[in-house]
Amino acid sequence: MTQEDMMAFEAARMMHADAVEAVLRDLLDSRVRDGEVDRPERLMAAIRHGVLNGGKRLRPFLLIESAALFGIDGTAPLRVAAALECVHCYSLVHDDLPAMDDDDLRRGQPTVHKAFDEAAAILAGDGLLTYAFDIVASNDTALPTDIRLTLIRELALAAGLGGMVGGQALDLEAERRRPDEEGIIRLQAMKTGALIRFACQAGALIGAASPAETERLAEFGSAVGLAFQLADDLLDLTSDAQTLGKATGKDAAAGKATLASLHGVDWANRQLDGLVEQAHDLLQPFGEEARRLRLAASFVAERMH
Ligand code: IPE
Ligand code: IPE
Ligand code: MG
Ligand code: MG
Ligand code: MG
Repeated sequence: MTQEDMMAFEAARMMHADAVEAVLRDLLDSRVRDGEVDRPERLMAAIRHGVLNGGKRLRPFLLIESAALFGIDGTAPLRVAAALECVHCYSLVHDDLPAMDDDDLRRGQPTVHKAFDEAAAILAGDGLLTYAFDIVASNDTALPTDIRLTLIRELALAAGLGGMVGGQALDLEAERRRPDEEGIIRLQAMKTGALIRFACQAGALIGAASPAETERLAEFGSAVGLAFQLADDLLDLTSDAQTLGKATGKDAAAGKATLASLHGVDWANRQLDGLVEQAHDLLQPFGEEARRLRLAASFVAERMH
């Protein structure tokens, strides 16, 4: 990525991050909504700690840019992006729990169970996951009912037992079972790939894209998702907590097999180049309009945090 490309990507990423964070701040304030009895203050504080704490907002970026390819912007993609970010943040809050990765630092701050307690972190995650579906289903997400229903179903598939949650289960098993390359790729496609794939697919669904275009964007998301986790594992090996805002060296310490540990850093870097090329090829038919998605794929492979 050239310096210029990096700056263009960062500017666009920050623009979308600001927009989605404004929506998240509103959705996660303490005002009790129709159909709710109350919003317990400590629960809301734990939730806000887990969400409004400076994530890269990469999944919202991919969703918003994918919808923009089909001429859709405004409230609907922003709300679905906010819902997806709620699911992502829930996955991080639970991933950091003592029973899982047992991490004290996330996005440069104490993890939710450190800042509050374990029960608060479990409930914050539960609340975020459920709320995500409320957000998508709500009439405030101004999309035709059939599109909302498809989004709900696809988000459930991506987040659920055959997606992120299933991947997290396999990931924990990998500390003991040391899967081979195929096994690692499958678990990563689930634990990280599924939500990133959904981000790109959702943009196409919101934009009422054809099934072929939707599938193409979903495939783009899968390639980006695999690259994303490969880069995450590399950073775990090569970066430091100060830069990353989370502990490093965790995978090796846990004896977790990753592609980077299995084949080495050079192989992983070559693999990353291949995945970015594959992602760029998938965007070919969308032309210049897909410029920012192309930058996102390059960013994911070269990211330093
Ligand atoms: C971290 O995701 C967890 C993985 C899936 C590897 P991100 O790197 O997107 O985390 P934030 O949202 O920017 O903190
Ligand atoms: C986390 O993977 C993936 C999900 C939260 C679904 P990691 O455990 O590698 O993520 P980090 O390194 O803690 O961010
Ligand atoms: Mg983990
Ligand atoms: Mg972790
Ligand atoms: Mg990691």
